[in-house]
Amino acid sequence: MIEHMPGSVPAEKVIVLDFGSQYTQLIARRIRELHVYAEIVPYFHPVEDIRKERPSAIVLSGGPSSLYEENAPRITGEVFDLGVPVLGICYGLYVTVEAYGGKTGSSSRKEYGRAAVNVTADSPLFKGLARQETVWMSHGDKVESPPPGFAVIASTENAETAAIEHREKRIYGVQFHPEVYHTVHGMEILSNFLFEICRITPTWSMKSFVSSSIEAIRAEVKDGTVLLGLSGGVDSSVVAVLLQKAIGERLYCVFVNNGVLRKNEAEKVIERFKNHMKLNLIYVDAYDRFLGKLAGVEEPEQKRKIIGREFIEVFMEEAKKIGRFDFLAQGTLYPDVIESVSTKGPSDTIKSHHNRVPEVLELIKSGKVIEPLKELFKDEVRELGVELGMPEELIYRHPFPGPGLAIRIIGEITEERLRVLREADDILVDEIKAAGLYRKLWQAFCVFLPVRSVGVMGDKRTYENVIAIRAVTSVDAMTADWAELPYAVLQTISSRIINEVRGVNRVVYDISSKPPSTIEWE
Ligand code: XMP
Repeated sequence: MIEHMPGSVPAEKVIVLDFGSQYTQLIARRIRELHVYAEIVPYFHPVEDIRKERPSAIVLSGGPSSLYEENAPRITGEVFDLGVPVLGICYGLYVTVEAYGGKTGSSSRKEYGRAAVNVTADSPLFKGLARQETVWMSHGDKVESPPPGFAVIASTENAETAAIEHREKRIYGVQFHPEVYHTVHGMEILSNFLFEICRITPTWSMKSFVSSSIEAIRAEVKDGTVLLGLSGGVDSSVVAVLLQKAIGERLYCVFVNNGVLRKNEAEKVIERFKNHMKLNLIYVDAYDRFLGKLAGVEEPEQKRKIIGREFIEVFMEEAKKIGRFDFLAQGTLYPDVIESVSTKGPSDTIKSHHNRVPEVLELIKSGKVIEPLKELFKDEVRELGVELGMPEELIYRHPFPGPGLAIRIIGEITEERLRVLREADDILVDEIKAAGLYRKLWQAFCVFLPVRSVGVMGDKRTYENVIAIRAVTSVDAMTADWAELPYAVLQTISSRIINEVRGVNRVVYDISSKPPSTIEWE
């Protein structure tokens, strides 16, 4: 079953079958930018379920570098028998070629980067394009002979068959990546596929997303109740507003103080959501309980697991107190899902996500979880927040991880380390905002390093802790660059932290990009 609610999307939609390409999410995103709803499912998604979803088009994503790798993902030919137009991209092209009896081969010349493609036939896919186009290639295989009934519509110096079409069946395949920015007219190609070939009407927008989500939530929840874990961050706040609009009083928000929140965070959340927005907010102060469980734990994944598990327990206890709840709501986003559940082909588990602990996975299986943002990227969620009329200050908050400061204190978590980190982080955010940089950054935060170094303060030797500053730019957290903060800002932050936070005598700046580093240190 597709994990979101039935009917939560407009009538016309595109299903993207994911073979594990790093660009899969970009495909869905570009299609939504063209005002057509798109969602991603793993390549092994049952054909029956795809049929039920009645997509107007199917896109097969790229995937591992070769069809000839061990365990290379494959689909049954049935996807092609649905009578739905298909566009295969890169790996998706080879899958298409194989399905229709053409021949692919492992290419001795791998091709990565920009390439020139020659459009060799008149095809609606390339309508309005020049005879030669710059595209982005990233592949190791090649098409040796196109399947019977298919025409070759483009070629490159390295590959005679760089794009194919079966006009009558509306099956297309391209070897390059139209979804990547470097394919200069990639959007035109996607647009041709959606509008010239599939004849889809572009009606999707955030506004329509709001109304269809509300409708779908109502249809699913009926007169039931929903329990939402509210963190005060952008994602769960947007879900709260959406659910409040859909079911009003039958939404219960549980806000758990897990002991690893930022300075004054709990007070701010209560003020905003309970007093101002009049949400049904249940505040649970579980500070001591979490810190007790975390005592002595150093290993990052262990910290995540403890916090995830404890959260679910606290949450369920509250659910029992309310008496009944029929659904659990979460503000999970697409990158959360991708980075934490490997769908066999797609990416390795880098860091586990608290929205995907075993207890939640069980609930998801039994259809008890509502995740209205599951297909969206952060900036799309922000756009949705604007559409819902939420305050800017809330919408543009930097992401804050569920395990909170626990994964920003390297090593063991203690009250003292938490105090130091909270104070330092508060100063950092303060100064970043004062410099007008907050909105330009994806995240900016402090990390407590369990390293002591020697300093001198007022003629006295000090032997204190180190705080690392992490500030990155990113669009979706999948990749990130360290931010080039002005020296003057770094200077103010550093001297304020060292002077104002007892227990710190050194501040360092993290100049690592993701990949190969990650944004958080743990
Ligand atoms: P990394 O460190 O993997 O982080 O580059 C990518 C984004 O995810 C956030 N993050 C988490 N969020 N639970 C969360 O809710 C987690 O365990 C977790 N780990 C990382 C991180 O802040 C960044 O925005």
